[in-house]
Amino acid sequence: MNQKNVKIAVIGYGGMGGWHCNKIATIEGLELAGIYDILEERRAAAEEKGIHAYASLEELLADPQVQIVTVAIPNQLHKPICIQAMEAGKNVVCEKPVALSHEELEEMIAASKANNVLFTVHQNRRWDEDYRIMKHIYDEGTLGKVFRIESRVHGSRGIPGDWRNQKECGGGMVLDWGVHLLDQIMQMIQKPVKTIYAELSYVTNEACDDGFTVIIKFEDDLTVEVQVGTSNFINLPRWYMLGENGSAVIENWGLDGKIVMVSDWQNRDAVPVVTAAGLTKTMAPRTKETIKEYPLPRRESDIREFYQNVMKAIAGEAEQLIKHDELLRVMKLMEAVFESAEQNKVITDFEERCKK
Ligand SMILES: NC(=O)c1ccc[n+]([C@@H]2O[C@H](COP(=O)([O-])OP(=O)(O)OC[C@H]3O[C@@H](n4cnc5c(N)ncnc54)[C@H](O)[C@@H]3O)[C@@H](O)[C@H]2O)c1
Repeated sequence: MNQKNVKIAVIGYGGMGGWHCNKIATIEGLELAGIYDILEERRAAAEEKGIHAYASLEELLADPQVQIVTVAIPNQLHKPICIQAMEAGKNVVCEKPVALSHEELEEMIAASKANNVLFTVHQNRRWDEDYRIMKHIYDEGTLGKVFRIESRVHGSRGIPGDWRNQKECGGGMVLDWGVHLLDQIMQMIQKPVKTIYAELSYVTNEACDDGFTVIIKFEDDLTVEVQVGTSNFINLPRWYMLGENGSAVIENWGLDGKIVMVSDWQNRDAVPVVTAAGLTKTMAPRTKETIKEYPLPRRESDIREFYQNVMKAIAGEAEQLIKHDELLRVMKLMEAVFESAEQNKVITDFEERCKK
């Protein structure tokens, strides 16, 4: 073992715990000390891969070599296990959604302060290239004044049949996917929120939302629609952005898409569209002379930056990238989504809620 390496342990060796172990192995200066999973079969699965499995959580937390603990277990367990790890003096990376309420998150943040350890959350989808491309288009002002953004993920498999469809485990799509999409939007749009209105769907599942649509109106006449669906056999585009001078679309995970800009507003080129029952000039497609089509810009990203930043932040060499106030804002946004949907009301005091 290289004495200079920072040692990390992973709690929960399921789908995401395995992902963390694989990723950690690719990061210079970071070394996996081992995992702990409550299931013996998962501990055995780790050992088969040559990964040390601690016999208990206590044993893992008592290992003085371990500086960082990544918590990748069902959502309702994040708070107690993260706090236990912080009280044992460990820096903690928690999986998303960090907690089930902003009160829980506040307790976790307080534990990190009380124990003087780093506490952050794996908001890994800030590194997704589709998001980075759209953020770049928005930041650069490519489309002129942007007035509408749609961000969605569509699947057709309902909610997986494990803890994710149990309310008490923090199941449902707002907490599962909403936390990523809403975090991305809050990173992209640094403007005050005016109103929030949401609907939840329960097509495949009675206990937990299996999808949702939320409309967030920001200052400066910008409306964002965020949608998750799990009964969608035809997917709508992953991203759709409308500006006064053009539109951008990303169709899918494969990053197919384009930007279309108006090149001549004045040209009266509309050839009426005639359908069986009528005629329209307003909705006539544009001719090639008045628009220009561009490929999407490429934004490469490297998710290893997440752990590299965690190591630097622990060493006092950088600020942590995923910050507590950002996490609290997204948690309060998800609470507003539930409240709006359950009471069929528009939330108008989101910014005041964030000041509390
Ligand atoms: N950031 C992402 O992209 C992403 C993707 C998938 C899952 N996640 C998150 O990761 C977490 C885990 O999800 P998953 O898909 O790996 O679930 P999973 O069900 O595949 O794995 C969870 C593991 O935790 C273990 N476990 C349960 N209770 C435990 C305890 N008290 N102590 C130790 N181990 C325990 C289970 O035995 C299981 O092996 C969730 O919070 C989920 O939201 C994040």
